[in-house]
Amino acid sequence: MWGAASSAYQIEGYSRSDGGGESVWDAFCRKKGAIANGESGAVACDAYHRFEEDLDILTQLGVRHYRFSTSWARVDPLGDGTWNPAGLAYYDRVVDACLERGITPWVTLYHWELPQAAEERGGWLAPETAQAFARFAGTMAGRFNGRVKHYFTLNEAQIVLKLGYAQGVHAPGKQYEPPQLARCWKHLLMAHGLATRAVRQAAPGAQVGIASTGRLCYPHTPADRAASAKAAFAMPDEDWMFTHSCVLDPVCLGGISPEGPQLAGLVREVTAQEWEVIHAVPDMIGVNSYNGSEVAAGADGAPVYLPRYPGFPRTALKWPITPEIMEYGYEDLYERYRLPLYVTECGLSCNDRIFLDGKVHDPDRIDFLTRYLSALGRGAEKADIRGFFHWSLTDNFEWHSGYGERFGLVYVDYPSQRRVLKDSARWYAGVVRANGLEER
Ligand code: FCB
Repeated sequence: MWGAASSAYQIEGYSRSDGGGESVWDAFCRKKGAIANGESGAVACDAYHRFEEDLDILTQLGVRHYRFSTSWARVDPLGDGTWNPAGLAYYDRVVDACLERGITPWVTLYHWELPQAAEERGGWLAPETAQAFARFAGTMAGRFNGRVKHYFTLNEAQIVLKLGYAQGVHAPGKQYEPPQLARCWKHLLMAHGLATRAVRQAAPGAQVGIASTGRLCYPHTPADRAASAKAAFAMPDEDWMFTHSCVLDPVCLGGISPEGPQLAGLVREVTAQEWEVIHAVPDMIGVNSYNGSEVAAGADGAPVYLPRYPGFPRTALKWPITPEIMEYGYEDLYERYRLPLYVTECGLSCNDRIFLDGKVHDPDRIDFLTRYLSALGRGAEKADIRGFFHWSLTDNFEWHSGYGERFGLVYVDYPSQRRVLKDSARWYAGVVRANGLEER
């Protein structure tokens, strides 16, 4: 199953049009110095008006699955259940336009577009935010019932916590201390639990997942395999937020294994009753996959993270290129959670531009994807991997990096909003046609 992905704030623009509400990202982008070059998602790719053109491109490429997100603030401007009819109608149009084209919509309910009003009432520090999110999720699923059959509750709760509430480099720009972070963590997990139930009730038979991210590991040599599997789920105090286990252990396994003193704080934070809410096992796990760590076994078998050698291959954003995670990381995730896995995001930023011949040549992206998909093929022999969504369909607003980072299969010339297929888009169309790399 081959698809492409996007998110509301990164592509839509015009968040306040037709009665839409302000999200934490609208507010954060106004903060001086928060975003590269003072940019914002005010216009982005103008998908609010141009989504049909983008869906036509998917059709042209033969891509039949589209993962997009619904902006909570556009639909529920104050986060209090006072619905904005034009916001709901917009997503009706997007869903219908997918279905008309034979494209399956995969809806992410929360890709970070928290209504600013809800943030001002405490944001993820407040238990009410989890309740309000479930109300929004249930409303969307009820509205889409029969039309949308695949949902993800939260996108990367890890990044919401780490970049939004710990480091403050993402909206809402908070730098909370461990006790407050533990509360945010709990409320995000409760939001998943409550929303999963709300979606299942409103849209019986729909599949509900969660999109996770965090450290994935791969072994230095075959003899290091046990060490890399162990390292993948360790939750060290210094970086517990960037782990799959801090989100997936609670929702899939109903608990966490405390390690350092901060994590003991996390465990103390959650009552038995709350664990029941949180333990809402998803139908599928979405894995946002970009890079990972190479691990060797130390003298006592304990995992040792290997440093990256000078000149290690990297993308334009300087993220390391580590295709091995698609084999070993996915095997580890499947061994631990035993649930169907989807690659909900995978891709890279390149310094794309229009060449003299009017085309966008991006051999880096084709090389990267060939490596990652080959490794994914090996992973699929060991794990139940059901699909792949390229991040992203079009170039878009890359959060605090602004428009400088281009992740799309489709180039966006922002001044004119013209879309230009990159070489990789045509290449990906071939992968979709052949159902993988092998037969090409
Ligand atoms: C992920 C986000 C996505 C995009 C990619 C590059 O963390 O989910 O919105 O920004 O990174």
